[in-house]
Amino acid sequence: MALRFLLLVSSMVAIASAGFPQNFDITWGEGHAKFLDNGQLLTLSLDKASGAGFQSKDEYLFGKIDMQIKLVPGNSAGTVTAYYLSSEGPAHDEIDFEFLGNLSGDPYTLHTNVFAQGKGNREMQFKLWFDPTKQFHTYSILWNPRHIIFMVDGTPIRDFKNLESRGVAFPKDQPMRIYSSLWNADDWATRGGLVKTDWTKAPFVASYRNFNADACVPASGRSRCDSANSGWWNQELDSASHARMRWVQKNYMIYNYCNDVKRFPQGLPPECSIA
Ligand SMILES: *[C@@H]1O[C@H](CO)[C@@H](O)[C@H](O)[C@H]1NC(C)=O
Repeated sequence: MALRFLLLVSSMVAIASAGFPQNFDITWGEGHAKFLDNGQLLTLSLDKASGAGFQSKDEYLFGKIDMQIKLVPGNSAGTVTAYYLSSEGPAHDEIDFEFLGNLSGDPYTLHTNVFAQGKGNREMQFKLWFDPTKQFHTYSILWNPRHIIFMVDGTPIRDFKNLESRGVAFPKDQPMRIYSSLWNADDWATRGGLVKTDWTKAPFVASYRNFNADACVPASGRSRCDSANSGWWNQELDSASHARMRWVQKNYMIYNYCNDVKRFPQGLPPECSIA
């Protein structure tokens, strides 16, 4: 009896720490966002009436944040699934993953960006080396005082370094919430807006599970976070991870603002010339 009670208590604690209802609020799209499987699964759906979105209850200042996402399958052209961190206010910081849908069989575009003190314009876009609609895959943001590393299934795809010493702003003072939403963006998303959303295929559904934030929560009243014990606090890419990131960037990157000289006639942003 006592053992059963203990098991029950410990499993409830585990669920509370990982469940979506405990960690997130649905912010828009009444009826289009659902907590399922005892809060272990969250789905967003998009139809002609509405998309939907959610946001984290907590604000984070640095951390390693993982989410497993299964994107809208089939003909997802025109749809955008955004998953990002953002602070508030005019000089906000933001770390973005955005998934632009496509016709059946054509590849999604994974769009990334980093805003620091209100300034973005740092887009890098990728194709993926797998079909992101067949299974869940893990999209991670590792954010510490020296790096913002974007990862897909543990493979780094982008490393935005802290180059404040060279005059480039870096997000490090403003806590951010996690946001995600699924909406219709067929005026620009797929082939620049040429391919429209096919509403006969609605509802379009994206699914989320296994959220994990090993992160500092300034408002929790705890000491800022136990950074000394957190591997991610000092983490940077070792040479093997660097090689994997180079492999992704060589084979799967389809846009890099640092190569877009036409867009920056006054010269590329400073971080582009610092390896
Ligand atoms: C969709 O597929 C086409 C054809 O492969 C590709 O050019 C395009 O970049 C893909 N992604 C988007 C979001 O349009």
